[in-house]
Amino acid sequence: MKTDDELAEAYNAALALEKAGDFAAAAEAYTRVLALDPDDHGGAAVRLAAMGLGDTPVRAPEAYVEMLFDQHASVFDDILVDQLGYHVPILVRQVLLDHAPGPYRRLLDLGCGTGLAGVALSDMSSHRTGIDLSANMIDLAAEHELYDELYVGDAVNFAQEVDDEPWDLVVATDVLPYLGDVAALFAGVRRISTPDAVFGFSTEVLPDDVMAGREFMVGPHQRFVHTLTYVRSALEAAGFTMVHASDITVRHEEGTPQPGHLVLAKAA
Ligand SMILES: C[S@@+](CC[C@H](N)C(=O)[O-])C[C@H]1O[C@@H](n2cnc3c(N)ncnc32)[C@H](O)[C@@H]1O
Repeated sequence: MKTDDELAEAYNAALALEKAGDFAAAAEAYTRVLALDPDDHGGAAVRLAAMGLGDTPVRAPEAYVEMLFDQHASVFDDILVDQLGYHVPILVRQVLLDHAPGPYRRLLDLGCGTGLAGVALSDMSSHRTGIDLSANMIDLAAEHELYDELYVGDAVNFAQEVDDEPWDLVVATDVLPYLGDVAALFAGVRRISTPDAVFGFSTEVLPDDVMAGREFMVGPHQRFVHTLTYVRSALEAAGFTMVHASDITVRHEEGTPQPGHLVLAKAA
């Protein structure tokens, strides 16, 4: 289709300019990409923000996240766990065992991906629900046969709208890097959680001098980073108390450890 060809050509041209370090020309090229594809499957908005150009979006575009993870689903575990040293689900398990061991009745795994958190926490609750924007990731999560319910959809909408029994354990491992403003997510999670619920999640962060007073921003790898101060106040605004936060390495990027936080909150 002509439009798809045009879009691919415009996107590749923008990417080439970005890789060549010609950010001004890349910005113009990404603006053309956005005009052709307002849903932003290629993540032009986050790429612009990562280059320090354009406004910080409030979240990564749904179409971009869906396409990114649909495309990478089959290699996700190999790349993230084996090559990039990702083990946040195991860290969440350890922190829960240390600070809030349960037992839990209903686990909600937001952005469950291939189900790594479902596996890590499989003995900590009797019922498990997962939701993810990527249908291909959900297909892989289903293969574990650990989730009682799996949904393809946006975690924020789900938390704002679902009408179901409340959950007493909610986790979001490596999902906040695809959301900038977390207020709607946190308020939604509080809405669908029990009065004594525990909410565990990870974030990425950059040094204070790079954050330069911003509560969240898009980092150099096109993922959102959040300050702990912002996360704490967003939790409080939503009716949670932060009960634990530790420094973690989320993954390695080109051999460099990517710092982040592992946070546990309790419904206040
Ligand atoms: C890096 S993966 C982590 C997957 C899994 N939580 C884990 O720890 O292995 C991020 C996942 O979050 C999903 N995701 C990101 N933003 C989302 C959103 N707003 N709603 C639902 N899923 C989302 C992506 O599709 C992807 O599967």
